[in-house]
Amino acid sequence: MKVLIFGSGGREHALAWAVKRSERVTEVVCAPGNGGMAQMARCVPVDLKSVEGMVQLAEAERPELTIVGPELPLSVGVVDALTARGFRAFGPSQAAAMLETSKGFAKQFLQRHNIPTANFAVCSTAAELEKAIGVFHPPIVVKADGLAAGKGVIICDSRHTALEAAQGLFSGELLGATERQVVIEEFLEGDEVSFLCLCDGKHVAPLKPAQDHKRIGEGDTGPNTGGMGVYSTDTLLEPAMSEWIMRHIAEPTVRAMAEEGAPFVGVLYCGLMMTARGPQVLEYNVRFGDPETQAILMRLDSDLVEALEACIDGRLAETALRWQPGASACVVASSAGYPGSYKNGYAITGLDEARRVPGVEVFHAGSAVSDGAIVTAGGRVLGVTAAAPSLQEALDRAYQAMAEIHFDGMYFRRDIGHRALKRAGA
Ligand code: AMP
Ligand code: GLY
Repeated sequence: MKVLIFGSGGREHALAWAVKRSERVTEVVCAPGNGGMAQMARCVPVDLKSVEGMVQLAEAERPELTIVGPELPLSVGVVDALTARGFRAFGPSQAAAMLETSKGFAKQFLQRHNIPTANFAVCSTAAELEKAIGVFHPPIVVKADGLAAGKGVIICDSRHTALEAAQGLFSGELLGATERQVVIEEFLEGDEVSFLCLCDGKHVAPLKPAQDHKRIGEGDTGPNTGGMGVYSTDTLLEPAMSEWIMRHIAEPTVRAMAEEGAPFVGVLYCGLMMTARGPQVLEYNVRFGDPETQAILMRLDSDLVEALEACIDGRLAETALRWQPGASACVVASSAGYPGSYKNGYAITGLDEARRVPGVEVFHAGSAVSDGAIVTAGGRVLGVTAAAPSLQEALDRAYQAMAEIHFDGMYFRRDIGHRALKRAGA
C-alpha cells in the first residue's frame, strides 16, 4: 500500500513514522516533507494552497491513501477534490473544516447545539463591536475569525485595548489580512487539555489526551508559539471526565455536523479549558495537533492506517484502538528568535546519538537537507519525543536525548510537563 502525506512539520513526520509501522504499507510519499522525512520516505514538492497542484500530484503518484496534515489544504477543499476523483483521502470536507476555518461559525455552532463554551459575540461592524465590548469585563479575549497560524487570539486587559485589537483585525493592521468578523469572548481560567478524536461522520473514538505548552518561556510565560512541548498521560483526565467530554462535547459535535449536512470525517481536535464550571470548548481544530500528535502516536499500539481507513469507510464503531499504558512527552527545540524572526541553515548534530536513547524518536519540524547535512529550516526545528511507563521517565528520556543534539541558537523549555508533575507531587 502506498500512502501520501501532505505537510512538512513534526506532526507529519510522526504520521509518516506511524504509517510506516503498518505491515500493509510499502511506500510513503511526503509532500513537501522536510529533512527528517527525507531520511525515511520520498519527498516531493507541492503547493499546499493549490488544490489543482495537490490533485495533480495524487494523479501522478496514485496513492491508496492520502493523509492531510495541516489546516491550509483542508481549508481550500483538498479532500473534496481528491474524493471526487476517486482517491481515498483522510480529513474533513471543506464544509466540515469550517469548525476551524471560521471561529464565528464554530462559536455559533457551539451555541446552537448547547455545547459548553465561553460567552461571546460575533461582530462584523464597529457598532456591534462597541456594544459587545461594553458587555464583557476585562480581561477580554479578541479573536480573528479566520485561520491565523496561532496569532489570531489577543487577550486584552482593558476595554480600550480590546477595541484597538478588534479594530486592528478589521483593518488588517494586526494580521495582514482584513477580517470580516471578529469574535469577542469571555476570558476563561483553568488548565488546557487537547482532546483529539477520530471521527467517521457518525462515530467518535477518543485518542489519548494531551497537554500542550504554547508559550515560549518556562513557567508558561512570554508570547504564544505553535507549541513548545506536550505530554500525554493516563491520569491527565479521570475516566469519568473523559466520558463526560465524549457525551457532552465530542459526540454532540459530530452528531450536529451530520444533522447540518456536513458530516465530520477526520480528526476532531477539541481545545478545552478545564474551568470551575466544567470543560469548555476554547476552539476546534479539524486536524491532528502539532506537537500533540508526536506524543500521542508514540503511545498508539494499533495500526494507524487501519484506524484512518475505518474513518473513511464509516466503520469506526467496529475498530478498537490499543494504547501503551504510561506516558509520553515531546520537547521542541526551536531556533533563536522564534516565535519572532529567526535564521535558517545551521547544521544539526547529535541526531543519531539522540535516537539511541531507549524509547526516543526525534521528529523533525523545520529541517532540510543541504549538501548531505541536516540543517535548520524553521522556527520549531525538532520534537524530541519519548514514551515510558511514567511521565518522569518519559521526560528524563526526552531531555537525555535533547542533551545529545546541537545547533546554533538552539532553545528548548526545561519544564515540559511541570503542571502534571506538580499535581502528582501534591
Ligand atoms: P485558540 O487559537 O482559540 O486555541 O487560542 C489560542 C490560545 O489562546 C488558547 O490555547 C488559550 O491559551 C488562549 N485562549 C483562547 N480563548 C481563550 C479564552 N476564552 N479564555 C482564556 N484563554 C483563551
Ligand atoms: N498544538 C496546537 C495546535 O495544533 O493547534
